[in-house]
Amino acid sequence: MKAIFVNGSPRKGWNTHQMLEAAAEGARSDGAETEVVHLYDLNFTGCKSCFACKLVNSKTNGICAVRDDLRPVLEKIMDADVLVVGSPIYYSHLTGETLSFQERLIFPVMHYGADENGNIIRDLPKPKRCGLIATMNCPEQFMERHRCPALLEEFVGTLTWLLGDGSSKGEVLCACDTWQFTDYSMYDVPMFDVEKKAEQRERQWPIDLQNAFDMGKRLCEA
Ligand SMILES: Cc1cc2nc3c(=O)[nH]c(=O)nc-3n(C[C@H](O)[C@H](O)[C@H](O)COP(=O)(O)O)c2cc1C
Repeated sequence: MKAIFVNGSPRKGWNTHQMLEAAAEGARSDGAETEVVHLYDLNFTGCKSCFACKLVNSKTNGICAVRDDLRPVLEKIMDADVLVVGSPIYYSHLTGETLSFQERLIFPVMHYGADENGNIIRDLPKPKRCGLIATMNCPEQFMERHRCPALLEEFVGTLTWLLGDGSSKGEVLCACDTWQFTDYSMYDVPMFDVEKKAEQRERQWPIDLQNAFDMGKRLCEA
């Protein structure tokens, strides 16, 4: 079992990355081979609409034809059994890099055509289980106001629709009210109650990491 964890946060070692590492540890605890990839280390763009993947008799095999830093990652994902994407929430969305990555990943898989049962034809050698981990500053009760759960379900729903192995509808895990700065006193951020934030960090963060571990393990279970 191969599992890939894609970090759509620019900050290595911070919330999203830590959640992904915990999920990868969970996957390894079940014997999976894991790799964490950082999108912000890569020089790439979103889909350029070249349509090389849509040519008659296209030989792209469901992998974007553009040869940039993302290409080897897409190749690895095609060969993986499990894909977990992680992203912070930026202005109520996933980060731009995460969305650019998604365009490049799924457009070549999807054909503009359906089989006799109306299912979209996919160019996908190995169907996978998919998960999404989102971290955000807002407390859990504000998520709804930001339309966040719907957006995240939609993202993982699209991944699962085009990459899924049919075993699940894809998993979404959120970590809310995250710790954003090493030292809050250095920043001009009066809206935060630092004591409450610290308390939340101490109490909730280990639970969030455990949830990520469990998610990674679950997705890799035979
Ligand atoms: C540009 C920017 C926009 C953000 N927008 C939101 C937002 O709309 N809602 C929210 O809850 N948090 C928002 N945040 C906070 C991050 O989502 C949160 O701190 C996250 O856990 C950071 O992940 P990281 O530690 O992996 O970088 C924003 C942060 C940045 C830098």
